[in-house]
Amino acid sequence: MDRNDFFSRLELLTDIFLKDKLDMEELAKACSDYKQLLIECSEYDITKSSNKDCIHTKYGNAIGPHWAIQCIDDIIRTKMFVKGTYKVVNDLLKKQGNVELMYAGTGPFAALVLPLMSKFSPSDLKIRCLEINPLSCSQLRDFLRITNLEEFVLSIEECDATKHVVPNPDKIDVLLCETMQPALLREFQAPICINLLSQLKEDVIMIPEDIHLSAGLMNADRFEHGNMIGRGGKPYTKSVSSVFHFDKFAIKAVSEQWKENPEKVDFPASEFIIRREDFEEYPFLEVFTKIKVCDDVVIESNQCDITMPVCIEDMRELESFDECQLSFHLSPFSKLRVKFNQDLVEEYA
Ligand SMILES: C[S@@+](CC[C@H](N)C(=O)[O-])C[C@H]1O[C@@H](n2cnc3c(N)ncnc32)[C@H](O)[C@@H]1O
Repeated sequence: MDRNDFFSRLELLTDIFLKDKLDMEELAKACSDYKQLLIECSEYDITKSSNKDCIHTKYGNAIGPHWAIQCIDDIIRTKMFVKGTYKVVNDLLKKQGNVELMYAGTGPFAALVLPLMSKFSPSDLKIRCLEINPLSCSQLRDFLRITNLEEFVLSIEECDATKHVVPNPDKIDVLLCETMQPALLREFQAPICINLLSQLKEDVIMIPEDIHLSAGLMNADRFEHGNMIGRGGKPYTKSVSSVFHFDKFAIKAVSEQWKENPEKVDFPASEFIIRREDFEEYPFLEVFTKIKVCDDVVIESNQCDITMPVCIEDMRELESFDECQLSFHLSPFSKLRVKFNQDLVEEYA
């Protein structure tokens, strides 16, 4: 396939990702075609078993290239991150001559910024890539060379982004990172963003802008993956309380703790009451995740794999309790701590 052909196919797919209207069938096909295009236009060998190897670190496992590519199939995630990143870069370009974006956890194809390369020129957008997996790094280098997109990329650093020291941090306008699981558990999103953001300039834009965790009760019989209303049109959740917002403010508030000990960071706890009459109909205590990629580009709870609810407890099994306290911690991997009474404490990771 020649470069023009690659570019025109990429641009067509990008137009689908950027659409305001959500057409699930069209989007699913676009994501599948996108994956196919990346594999066709690279030297990626789908039969190589080392592509499945993960890198183990104290914060959790970094997935191998095979799994990173599968993330594209989480279609709402892919669309919203591409759309949000496009919007942020486009808005910045109206105010300044060019944009420098740091992309932490690129996988083998930098799949969340690649579509932008069909819309902007290398003089508009420059990217610094960070990736822990050596295979993904070398595949990304090969891919950019083959597709002739190297001009967009300032550097590809094979590094652990939770420890990376950023050269020329003031030059970076946008930090993009999507290395998360629902409820931010056992993944790198939090440590990577805390480490990098604490080095970058005050007005840097973080993508996603906010990851909001909230507590709620759930009726499991009415729950269906991807159905945000509930089976049969009956609501499957009853919201209880906000737990915390993982945004620039929250990161700033813990930056001193992080500097002292990156293996132990405690975010403030949220306290709330759960009424017995509520959990008779909605017995499971869950943590819900909502991602604000930027402005009005939002991924709702249960809209994609990384915003699936996480079950904490079957409330019918607790003998008695007065109030509940939920909090998020790094120690070292990310976990939720739940305190039902003064003494009953459980951890979820
Ligand atoms: C969920 S995949 C996403 C891949 C791609 N950005 C996408 O969205 O399609 C996360 C990527 O982050 C990388 N990663 C995870 N932890 C990392 C760390 N601490 N430093 C650098 N890269 C990391 C993984 O190796 C993997 O390639």
